[in-house]
Amino acid sequence: MQKRIPDLKRIIAGIDDLPTLPRTVLKITELVNDPKSSAKDLAKVITDDQILTARLLKLVNSSFYGLPQRISTVTGAIVLIGFDAIRNLLLTTSVFDLFAGRNKKKQQKQEQFWDHSLGCAVGAKVIGNYLRYDNIEELFVAGLLHDIGKIVEMMFQPDEFSKVAAAISRENILMIKAEIRILGYSHAEIGKLLAEKWNLPSKLVQIIAHHHQPTDAGSFAIEAAIVHLADIFCRALNMGSGGDNKIPSLDRFAWESLKIQTNAIEGIMKTMHDEYGDIRSFI
Ligand SMILES: [Fe+2]
Ligand SMILES: [Fe+2]
Repeated sequence: MQKRIPDLKRIIAGIDDLPTLPRTVLKITELVNDPKSSAKDLAKVITDDQILTARLLKLVNSSFYGLPQRISTVTGAIVLIGFDAIRNLLLTTSVFDLFAGRNKKKQQKQEQFWDHSLGCAVGAKVIGNYLRYDNIEELFVAGLLHDIGKIVEMMFQPDEFSKVAAAISRENILMIKAEIRILGYSHAEIGKLLAEKWNLPSKLVQIIAHHHQPTDAGSFAIEAAIVHLADIFCRALNMGSGGDNKIPSLDRFAWESLKIQTNAIEGIMKTMHDEYGDIRSFI
């Protein structure tokens, strides 16, 4: 553990090289957080960007939202699915872009990570729905970003990542276990740093930081427990790969805090499977 402090300091120093979110997404986040802004203000920022506009219309018209009518304007999309959902959608697709295709050799591994993240996002949304949680869009984003630290490791710390990968295949252990032993820190800590750099809401920062020990997430322990459980379910359903072949063990306190009926698990996993198939076909 001795190398832990200098290594974390080095990561923080190197975090200037970590990706920044596109200006449009930051502007949109600002508008969404401003109670005085209107759907028209938001539509203006989005329509200035043709790619975002096309993407948004494609997403709102997909089966994921299951809206009965076709939406052809950005304002219509905002009114129908709401400010927060729009912000989350755009954040999601921008984050995908940020990491996509930087290194062809690693692309396959990266795609498996994204499939895992997407599976966890869908899982968090489905579990949130079952629990009648208020903001399931936010859970979706949390699930999507929970392992972002692994992507950072893979893309920006290739030597460290190779050592971790070697230990995983040698000993068939969880990635987090290999990281802590070899690097002295985990993808959860790197993810937290990136989320803070992006000024994401503290709820997201806490979920990312504590998805392996949800009870440490303070006032967001329930949300972290949902993502923790979704992580386990999506691995059980073989959605992508989280970098190792092990299913993390279920945190007993997290499980008890959610109060999910055991006989509901099968239905939750079936819905996850169906929604994952839908969303994967258009992202
Ligand atoms: Fe993780
Ligand atoms: Fe994960």
